[in-house]
Amino acid sequence: MSETKPFIALVDFGSQYTHLIARRLKDLGVDTRFFKPTQPPPKTSRLRGIILSGGPNSVIKNPLPFNKSWLTSTQPLLGLCYGHQLIARQFKGQVTPGQIREYGPARLTINQLHPLTAQIKKHSTVWMSHGDSVTKLPPGFINLGSTATLPHAALAHRSKPIFGLQFHPEVHHTVYGQILLKNFCFNICGLKPHKPTDQLTKIQAAVLQQVGNKKVFLLVSGGVDSTVALIILVKTLGPKRVYALHIDTGLLRQNESRLVGQSLKKLGYRRWQTNKAGALFLKNLAGITDPERKRQIIGQTFLQVAKLATKRLKLNTKDWLLGQGTIYPDTIESGGTKHADKIKTHHNRIGLLQRLAQDNLLVEPLKELYKDEVRRLGQTLGLPQELLWGHPFPGPGLGVRLLCLNKRQANQLNQSVKQLNLKNIPHLILPINSVGVQGDERSYARPLAVDAPYSSFAYWHKQATKLTNQHKLINRVLLKLTGPSLTLIKAYSSFITKQRIKLLQQCDALVTQELKAAGLYYKIWQCPVVLIPIGFRHQESLVIRPFTSREAMTGQAYHLPEPVIKTLAKRLTKLKKLDYIFYDLTDKPPGTVEWE
Ligand code: XMP
Repeated sequence: MSETKPFIALVDFGSQYTHLIARRLKDLGVDTRFFKPTQPPPKTSRLRGIILSGGPNSVIKNPLPFNKSWLTSTQPLLGLCYGHQLIARQFKGQVTPGQIREYGPARLTINQLHPLTAQIKKHSTVWMSHGDSVTKLPPGFINLGSTATLPHAALAHRSKPIFGLQFHPEVHHTVYGQILLKNFCFNICGLKPHKPTDQLTKIQAAVLQQVGNKKVFLLVSGGVDSTVALIILVKTLGPKRVYALHIDTGLLRQNESRLVGQSLKKLGYRRWQTNKAGALFLKNLAGITDPERKRQIIGQTFLQVAKLATKRLKLNTKDWLLGQGTIYPDTIESGGTKHADKIKTHHNRIGLLQRLAQDNLLVEPLKELYKDEVRRLGQTLGLPQELLWGHPFPGPGLGVRLLCLNKRQANQLNQSVKQLNLKNIPHLILPINSVGVQGDERSYARPLAVDAPYSSFAYWHKQATKLTNQHKLINRVLLKLTGPSLTLIKAYSSFITKQRIKLLQQCDALVTQELKAAGLYYKIWQCPVVLIPIGFRHQESLVIRPFTSREAMTGQAYHLPEPVIKTLAKRLTKLKKLDYIFYDLTDKPPGTVEWE
């Protein structure tokens, strides 16, 4: 960031979306600087406004220590979610713990004309992710907007430039979010947009500064992130100072490693090799059921294989830095900022790598970018469309799409709560847990399966948000597509095995084929398929998770046309290995894209 340009201070209370606020402001041509809540506001005339982020803490139960000067600064102040509640509480309004938590879309009604809400329709969709809420306006404040459940979803001080929004304007599901941020920056703070510096030039300068005269040993999965990272490194340092390693974990999609090899060759890059390490990954994962342990082990095994490869290639570690295609959400979801909750440890963010990153010994040219920015960069660099727009695939691969249970866990789950009080609807709280994200916090809870016709998708999609907000026990809602009565379902002990990997690869390939045949593959963000060790005969069931998103921080379950679902279900059933097939209707939040 230029040292002469005005900026907005972003006070980070640990929201999953803090960095996204900066990203949105960057899109508007406005600079930001991050601050810890305990730091004082900077004493510079370049400070033109302050945004207090959301966060996983509660201003009532466990408020974070913060420097009160942020609230008394004369600069315009905008609080989002936690920041909104902090403003309400500090100015003597009332914040109350929520009876009902609210994660997902809500309908905002604008109650007052105001420069902050200029050009925003009276009714619009906003994105909520909170437990506590403002129940009484602080004296001197006016109400700008409300929702059905929140009387004070948006507030403003009568005479000072102080504002609070309970929802998240930085999330693109908030339809007028970008206009709200624009209004704050330009109408309230009086900033003028500047032309952002070319991203590629900035990244190349940072790489040169970090790498100096050393070289980079880059881990490439072959997806868009690591391929863009590779091209940028080669462009910046020259081909001789970069070597790429592709690790075949055995947890990749069908034929994937071969395709990655072909793609690297097509790009004209020669200095790389593939290491087949499936057996080592299987051995290290034997008997493991906890998703975080799996992620840690997969991350450690990646490093183990990389280390062996550097020895074999006789690369002197004094001359070679490790490189990765890490993007920003990997860091934030791994709990990588000071107050952010850990949702999942991404394989490229395990402890050792975190320490290397802190010591500036890890080269990650894309670490500040989101997927959509990486794709745009890739486009500029001339990458082929199928690589640019291919579905994202997590580093831990199918390892986090094969849910595992040991005997004790399966028994416990079989004895646990099975029903909600949904009258007249056959349903079951499935005996399995998955990861979710609610109110900036990780959840590990159970899916509710409903036995209802596919034509009721829209109804149950809406209910999914309501039910997960109301019942802490569940964080996902699934629609049963095939299988007999849900009452037959039991959980079974099951681990990662070659047979399960093969079955999941078959299911995944089949789903991808059908999506492509229906012309839907490039319309959606991703469609993970997940094997869960529940059922009755085969003791195995499948979840299909079609999902749309812009940058994976939030997103929605995608409604596939019924004929596509029918063909899919028919083809998957023909495999004769699955007891049930489910469709995941859960948005993010409260679900995450992946189940582990
Ligand atoms: P979640 O499940 O956190 O996923 O909502 C958001 C996006 O990130 C992908 N994902 C990963 N990608 N390493 C990766 O490279 C990982 O450990 C990882 N975990 C999730 C996920 O597929 C989705 O696109």
